[in-house]
Amino acid sequence: MLILNKTAGVFSKPSRRKPYEFLRSFNFYPGKLFLHKLVLGIETSCDDTAAAVVDETGNVLGEAIHSQTEVHLKTGGIVPPVAQQLHRENIQRIVQEALSASKVSPSELSAIATTVKPGLALSLGVGLSFSLQLVHQLKKPFIPIHHMEAHALTIRLLNKVEFPFLVLLISGGHCLLALVRGVSDFLLLGKSLDIAPGDMLDKVARRLSLIKHPECSTMSGGKAIEHLAKQGNKLHFDIKPPMQRAKNCDFSFSGLQHVIDKIIMQKEKEEGIQKGQILSSAAHIAAAVQHTIACHIAKRTHRAILFCKQRHLLSQSNAVLVVSGGVASNLYIRKALEIVTNATQCTLLCPPPRLCTDNGIMIAWNGIERLRAGVGVLHNTEGIRYEPKCPLGVDISEEVGEAAIKVPRLKMEI
Ligand code: KG4
Ligand code: ZN
Repeated sequence: MLILNKTAGVFSKPSRRKPYEFLRSFNFYPGKLFLHKLVLGIETSCDDTAAAVVDETGNVLGEAIHSQTEVHLKTGGIVPPVAQQLHRENIQRIVQEALSASKVSPSELSAIATTVKPGLALSLGVGLSFSLQLVHQLKKPFIPIHHMEAHALTIRLLNKVEFPFLVLLISGGHCLLALVRGVSDFLLLGKSLDIAPGDMLDKVARRLSLIKHPECSTMSGGKAIEHLAKQGNKLHFDIKPPMQRAKNCDFSFSGLQHVIDKIIMQKEKEEGIQKGQILSSAAHIAAAVQHTIACHIAKRTHRAILFCKQRHLLSQSNAVLVVSGGVASNLYIRKALEIVTNATQCTLLCPPPRLCTDNGIMIAWNGIERLRAGVGVLHNTEGIRYEPKCPLGVDISEEVGEAAIKVPRLKMEI
């Protein structure tokens, strides 16, 4: 088990001398009375330093975020010590900005909620260490948050979604299908056996050098693929979706990535161009990879819906599928999922893009959900650790595979 490295020194020098001087700079509003629970949420599990104050009714009172995307785009991926340093440099300012915007004085907070699992060890450590000092200074309860649980519950801040519902989380770092039965009650139906779909799209985009493409230079890999795919023919290459024989809800993307790599190499030869130059067939490749991913994700999700209905884990006529994560903003993939939900009489819900990606609001809201349910609210933080690896809920993916549900073929006319 990884243990929080207390000697790592998570604050930069000036802030170490006076870690929470900023708290004194708040204007308190003595006449103001908050009837609702108020939670400060702090997120540092990957490459975003984010904080927000949310009340019990789902009002976002204040929010701030510092994204490291630009820095990591230049290095072609996240370098953990760089991410850690950037979290250290920004966490105090971001928390201060979220609190200031909320006009809530720290003393009025009901609790502080912070992502402690899963994620990059060095990044999680910064958020946890900062939060624990804040918790001790303010004498507030602490709510450790599972990052995926927070993604899954975000929809309830916006819509009246009752438990149970199905959630599909697809991003650069996540890929899972789970049944959400309660605030802290999840059944894991399937997950990626290798990399996440966003990671794969980022790798393909990098291999295609889309950053040099005039229309895509500022876009993430996934967004660049979606953009270029509109100009390409998805059937130009004959690519089979992964894991067609495995009748479970697991995913795989690295085999597909290798297939695409081979196609790119072949095309470079044919077109007589060097690695690093843009292929004339880049749009066809983008369209084919996006279509293949969409079909793979749709099929696994379809099977998960059928499994849950068969076992009476979801309502027969009123089931809800929530899709979130950076890749959920891809409209082609959403349409593929819409075909599945239409065929299975489910309702498809997606949070808006800014709540699909990592943010402080989802952490604060998860804190509210846990406060209301009375689960995981700590008054003593002794022994609290971060956990870089932590599965979500009870893993029943083997049972799902054993059920071997055959999924009816759907026409993916998107
Ligand atoms: O949720 P997110 O911001 O960060 C984590 O990975 O946790 O997701 C970022 C991922 C990146 O891999 C990015 O390429 C992908 O989401 N992405 C997209 C789109 N926009 C972002 N993938 C497909 N289509 C998009 N429009
Ligand atoms: Zn995330």
